[in-house]
Amino acid sequence: MNVTKKVLVAGASGYLGRYAVKEFKDRGYYVRVLVRDPEKIKTVGAHLEPAIYELADEIVVGDVTDPESINGICKGIDLVFSSLGLTSPDPKLTSYDVDYLGNKRILDQAIKERVSRFIYISVFNQDKMAEILSIKAHELFVADLKESGLSWAVIRPNGYFSDMGRFFSMAQSGHIFMVGEGEKKINPVHGADLAKISVDAAEGESREIAVGGPDIYTFREVMELAFHACGKSPWITPLPMWLAEGGLMVTGLFNRNLADLLSFAVEALKFDHVAPACGTRHLTEFFAELAGGVK
Ligand SMILES: NC(=O)c1ccc[n+]([C@@H]2O[C@H](COP(=O)([O-])OP(=O)(O)OC[C@H]3O[C@@H](n4cnc5c(N)ncnc54)[C@H](OP(=O)(O)O)[C@@H]3O)[C@@H](O)[C@H]2O)c1
Repeated sequence: MNVTKKVLVAGASGYLGRYAVKEFKDRGYYVRVLVRDPEKIKTVGAHLEPAIYELADEIVVGDVTDPESINGICKGIDLVFSSLGLTSPDPKLTSYDVDYLGNKRILDQAIKERVSRFIYISVFNQDKMAEILSIKAHELFVADLKESGLSWAVIRPNGYFSDMGRFFSMAQSGHIFMVGEGEKKINPVHGADLAKISVDAAEGESREIAVGGPDIYTFREVMELAFHACGKSPWITPLPMWLAEGGLMVTGLFNRNLADLLSFAVEALKFDHVAPACGTRHLTEFFAELAGGVK
């Protein structure tokens, strides 16, 4: 008899989470999603990630910073997938509150309900950025997950197309300030390609999987591609690294949470982020889609 497996997707309203919901559904899973705002998942996301309201079998409204709201979230669940995280500044919450404590609350429930496996999305190059608070929070959770006694998979992506979409938005405005010379390299990955790898990790040994996309670019090349897709001439102004770091210190004096998240963006530009190549979707096509027509 073929028993339908039940998965909880935490972070389901986000860029990767929506593709994960779609991929689990395509493979026949029963999908429960945890979202803060069900309205949000009725429409396609800012970086073309799919609407999933109609796809989900069950929608639970909850916030991981409010333990009561996620009580029983893992009841009857076989597998947890979490891409839940703090990716934009919040005036009240830190990465520790969301990436660590929030995911830990889900893990505690997964242990209580004897879930068979937990798939967590962390970050590539974590050792090189170990002092950044958001990386620390991710890795604190990874350590707890490995200690939990559950079977686990930790996915380590380098950068999503949605993140490259920020360069696209800046290119649309006509100008990009670039921290450093933009010579470091990255092979970003599409959410749908990453979701496939993540769902493949639902079975088998506990393991860590580093993931990048099929094409390697320097950050400057990514910006140039973005201008090209908008039909604009590249206008890129390099900012010296010391200036960006000084700006971060000043930002930290009045907005610690914003400074923590920006420090990730600045730190990430200091070295290459080339991860094992996966997937078939190309950044040029993604930018063309954002520009309003597949070229
Ligand atoms: N973007 C990248 O290039 C990249 C690269 C490597 C690793 N990662 C990691 O991958 C993960 C997913 O990234 P993403 O780009 O998909 O992020 P995203 O689009 O911002 O999605 C984050 C998800 O977490 C949810 N969430 C945040 N706080 C919550 C809370 N208190 N309670 C319940 N849900 C909450 C969000 O819900 P709302 O929709 O309600 O906000 C959203 O569904 C993150 O941990 C990120 O650090 C990202």
